[in-house]
Amino acid sequence: CRAQTDSVQQPGGDVTAAEGDSVTLGCHFNSSTSNYYLFWYKQEENNRPMFILNRFKTGAGTTAEEFKERFSSSLDSNSRSVPLTIQNLHVSDSAVYYCALQP
Ligand SMILES: *[C@@H]1O[C@H](CO)[C@@H](O)[C@H](O)[C@H]1NC(C)=O
Repeated sequence: CRAQTDSVQQPGGDVTAAEGDSVTLGCHFNSSTSNYYLFWYKQEENNRPMFILNRFKTGAGTTAEEFKERFSSSLDSNSRSVPLTIQNLHVSDSAVYYCALQP
């Protein structure tokens, strides 16, 4: 066994897609603890990050009302990933998306 540190890793670079398409943004994580929470945030230019959703290792997470319709994610603790899928893309989805881990 090797001690894991708490970290997340998102693929670098921009994702380009057309209006109406779907995209999936990757997020892999390691955690030093056996239970953890993963969060996704959206940050538009000159704005603070907005909470989209969280997912727990055990039990359901929550999704902010304004994102419920088109944003989804499921945490896979085996592959330690929590990809964010956005359906039916709108131009206003253009932003920086952050994945975050809380041990
Ligand atoms: C998780 O830990 C492994 C082994 O130390 C490392 O190879 C991998 O890059 C780490 N992944 C993340 C998301 O930090």
